[in-house]
Amino acid sequence: MKKTALLLLASLFALGTAFADEEAAAPAAAEPAAPAAVRMITEATFPPYEFRQGTDVVGIDVEICKAIAAALGKELSIEDVEFDSVLPSLIAGKAELAAAGITVTEDRKMKVDFSVPYVRTGIVVVYAKDAPCEDGAAAAGKRIGVQNGTTSADYVREQLGQEPEMFDSPASAFAALKQGKVDLVIADIDPAKNLIKGEPDYDISDFLTVEEYAIAIKKGQPELLAVVNRVIEGLQDSGKLDEIVDEWTAKADALQSAGE
Ligand code: ARG
Repeated sequence: MKKTALLLLASLFALGTAFADEEAAAPAAAEPAAPAAVRMITEATFPPYEFRQGTDVVGIDVEICKAIAAALGKELSIEDVEFDSVLPSLIAGKAELAAAGITVTEDRKMKVDFSVPYVRTGIVVVYAKDAPCEDGAAAAGKRIGVQNGTTSADYVREQLGQEPEMFDSPASAFAALKQGKVDLVIADIDPAKNLIKGEPDYDISDFLTVEEYAIAIKKGQPELLAVVNRVIEGLQDSGKLDEIVDEWTAKADALQSAGE
């Protein structure tokens, strides 16, 4: 009896050391390599915040993210995806920063952390002047085009109680308006203003909502959030953010007027 117990102990011990050896021999679990660049994820059909100039993605959000990357001592790389993939991609670890004129909402706050806001803005109706639409009440019941995944889509569902027509960009929703495929477009005011540049037959309403844009990061990174906030506040306090906004609004308008 005793002997068996001892044997059992001995074999258990042998088993234990065998495991220990195996552990020692196994290569140390590789530390996830810190990405060489700070990766920004965005959806670049949203002038003046992010848009294409040739093949480059440029705009206000790009400038803010470049300043954040510089504060972290890194280069910035940019990935352009559908708007409704921006936050899921961030959460999946495909980027450090999501910057896409992203409105802070209660729903999104449950999924990601937001920086301090850097713009106060809102959504508006884009309409043909021969069929004006100055507020949400007048929009109800019409065919309304919006960009997929946006607060404009939420507005149509939640405030007007109807399904919007989905488009992959504000510009494609506007193209549908011009073709009579939708009656109205609802979009954020700055891209909306950009769309109607050089379009004398179209106009925009007053604000339907008050919204704030912020940069989103994956939850649980207080150090990164502190850097992002410090950079944004620095750009605000120095007046640099206003310069960036003016510069890229002018550049986006020039591009739009050139018919690109
Ligand atoms: N502000 C709106 C939202 O957060 C629209 C943003 C669209 N941004 C873009 N880059 N397409 O839902």
